[in-house]
Amino acid sequence: MPRTSQRTSVFSESVIRGMSRIATQHNAINLAQGFPDWDPPAELIQAAKDAMDTGRHQYAVTWGSPELRAALAAKLERFIGIPIDAGSELVVCCGATEAMIVAMMTVCDPGDKVGLFSPFYENYSADAILSGATPVLVPLHPPHYRFDPAELRTAFAGGLKAFVLCNPSNPCGRVFTRAELLQIAALAEEFDVWIITDEVYEHIVFPPHEHVYFAALPGMAKRTLSCSSLSKTFSITGWRIGHVHAPPEIIAQARKVHDFLTVGAAAPLQHAVVTALNFPKSYYTDLAAEYGRSREILLGYLDQIGLTYTRPEGAYFVMVDISPFGYASDVEFAHWMTREIGVAPVPGSSFFAPGENRYIRLNFAKKPATLHAAGERLLKLKR
Ligand SMILES: Cc1ncc(COP(=O)(O)O)c(C=O)c1O
Repeated sequence: MPRTSQRTSVFSESVIRGMSRIATQHNAINLAQGFPDWDPPAELIQAAKDAMDTGRHQYAVTWGSPELRAALAAKLERFIGIPIDAGSELVVCCGATEAMIVAMMTVCDPGDKVGLFSPFYENYSADAILSGATPVLVPLHPPHYRFDPAELRTAFAGGLKAFVLCNPSNPCGRVFTRAELLQIAALAEEFDVWIITDEVYEHIVFPPHEHVYFAALPGMAKRTLSCSSLSKTFSITGWRIGHVHAPPEIIAQARKVHDFLTVGAAAPLQHAVVTALNFPKSYYTDLAAEYGRSREILLGYLDQIGLTYTRPEGAYFVMVDISPFGYASDVEFAHWMTREIGVAPVPGSSFFAPGENRYIRLNFAKKPATLHAAGERLLKLKR
């Protein structure tokens, strides 16, 4: 038989989804994969049912139904604060997952370099490989996950085509400050680099931290491909609705990449989410407040156990230092914890450049009852 592709043979199974499987095997509470264990708002479920009943079963316009793009543009304008043309500046994708690969394939050629902060969400290096680009990692230094401006400059000066910015950040929970973003913006301008943002946690930010949209920074709209999705904001990770926002000439190309990759996101669900995009501002503040309470529940247990962690500023993950347990490998620790404690984490090494295995990641996108049940089990870690 001929050989399968060299390029994709380097992929390993997603560590996160692998941990979810092990969690099921051991009947453990899954704090590995980040998805909520509650239903989306009832109006949204009703809107999906209505869409099914009103004949929305065939392909929508490949780059997103006009109603969805109009609602999306209005919502993004409200939050980002810049004018957005629904006709030419948006492409609707199958989640931010597709939005990110579309963005990367739109701006990168094989051989290009793409900068990423490490730790990073595991899809980005795969996206780079699928685009033929080489990832260049810039450390965010634990425990505060700040970048060193000199290291960032070295990466940009090394000839990046694009830089991926996950903000708020999975896995480390950073919400980058305006000052930090302005440093990235200055480098992007100086070295003429595209910025691809992943802002899926844009509405899960804990005061006093505030999300600053990169595209809203002076001069940045022209070089930013802003990717996000409705997965996290409306608790619909399975609906697969995301988007890229960028200047018209970039979106014209991105729409073709998207069309050839997937044709389009599910038509009835595109119709349904218009309802959610019209929710009042209080929906978003309530969402952040709810996640803030969940954060406190989980961190409360970590405090009782005496574990060291980095307080998340946004998103719904916490990085916990497991070095006191003396395991040589975080993977071994994560498997042991799933089996013996009954709570599944993600081994931190899956997010970092090789060599860092002091951390696990836990997520708190769970109902208070689930978090308390997990917390009670975690107390067994107390020594
Ligand atoms: C940083 C980040 N980006 C993208 C995604 C996937 O988003 P979507 O469901 O919109 O594809 C996730 C999901 O965990 C994520 O954490």
